[in-house]
Amino acid sequence: MRLSFFLYASAFSPLATAFVHPGLLHTAEDFDRVASKVAAQTNPWYAGYQKLIANPHAQTSWIASPVDVVYRGVNPHGQNYVRFYRDIAAAYALALRWKATNDAQYANSSAAIIDAWSSTLTQVGGSADRFLASGLYGYQIANVVEVLRGYPAWTGFEAAKDMLVNIFYPMSHSFIMNHNDARVDHYWANWDLCNLNSILAIGVVADNQSIFNEAVHYFYNGAGNGAITKAIWKIYQDIEGEDLGQLQESGRDQGHTMLVIGLLGTFAQMAKNQGIGLFQYLDNRILKGAEYVAKFNLGYDVPYTTYVNSDVTQGVISNNSRGGIRPIWELLYNRYGKVMGKNVKYTQLYTEKVRAAGGGAEGGGGDYGPNSGGYDLLGYGTLMYSV
Ligand SMILES: *[C@@H]1O[C@H](CO)[C@@H](O)[C@H](O)[C@H]1NC(C)=O
Ligand SMILES: *[C@@H]1O[C@H](CO)[C@@H](O)[C@H](O)[C@H]1NC(C)=O
Ligand SMILES: *[C@@H]1O[C@H](CO)[C@@H](O)[C@H](O)[C@H]1NC(C)=O
Repeated sequence: MRLSFFLYASAFSPLATAFVHPGLLHTAEDFDRVASKVAAQTNPWYAGYQKLIANPHAQTSWIASPVDVVYRGVNPHGQNYVRFYRDIAAAYALALRWKATNDAQYANSSAAIIDAWSSTLTQVGGSADRFLASGLYGYQIANVVEVLRGYPAWTGFEAAKDMLVNIFYPMSHSFIMNHNDARVDHYWANWDLCNLNSILAIGVVADNQSIFNEAVHYFYNGAGNGAITKAIWKIYQDIEGEDLGQLQESGRDQGHTMLVIGLLGTFAQMAKNQGIGLFQYLDNRILKGAEYVAKFNLGYDVPYTTYVNSDVTQGVISNNSRGGIRPIWELLYNRYGKVMGKNVKYTQLYTEKVRAAGGGAEGGGGDYGPNSGGYDLLGYGTLMYSV
């Protein structure tokens, strides 16, 4: 059945129907669930929806402020990327608000933001940090575009896809191949992982199997720190009844360590929606990392092994930014705990902590401070990932 469908499709446009759409962080089934739970005012979805609509980024009054070159990192032109990540957060929040209500005014406003950027942006520049921009904003825009492609009145899909394929993909590809001409272990795991998220997501938006496969193969076997056995490099068996996995960034600080867990979650979620099982890969390795990170950040001790790369030797786990609140945990808690039935003790506790900090639900960009780190993950997980 699958084979004949593929052959039929390939006779007309190769691979064009091999991908599920919408098929990045959210599927059509997810959107149906969210809309019906919101209509029935059922918690926790309804609390998640209230969190969404209270966010200033989720309003139709949001006006995009595009520029032709986005700069991130200290550089002679100055940095202007704040406007970019805030506009993307608005486009995503509005796209979700559309799917939660089926009210097209929100799709229209979301599309207007994407169209403003796709008709203006020519380049992403700056210091080495430009590769954080290509990764983080690449996967985020792709996720908005993947939702909006289902908005029948939208004429901007091709331009948005071209922006992703022509500006973001080449940068993300270059980064994972060449690492900005640094040693392969120089850049921390989150740099690879945001660019892997970007590549995977652009592959789906563009219906390009080779781009999609590039990201998946790197996750399995890549040379840099984003590959799964490097990002979560040390497994401890049966620590108080469960396995824990130490992260490549654990000796650096906890904010970046949590970002890595967040980006592993989004990567596995997008891959799952295209039929690739990364949550369960290597005996649920991402969960072992999530439990390690959640446990330590909740104030418990975890085992630690000295980490060494070409630049640093880190003999102790870092206390810096321990216990931070970011929209990371709902995705992992719901997938591993509710769907797969795994022990998610500390991931669940962290989910509850972030919900409580948000007044009952995980929020999105704008709910976690004004700095870029508060926008690194798209969030709204109570609304979108609860099952
Ligand atoms: C949004 O709505 C306005 C007014 O109906 C329309 O002119 C415009 O084309 C719409 N834009 C999108 C992107 O749907
Ligand atoms: C997929 O992307 C690659 C890399 O940019 C490109 O060479 C190839 O032509 C694309 N394939 C399709 C079917 O568009
Ligand atoms: C981290 O903080 C805890 C409690 O405040 C302290 O016991 C521990 O020594 C600190 N560890 C490091 C590596 O600073």
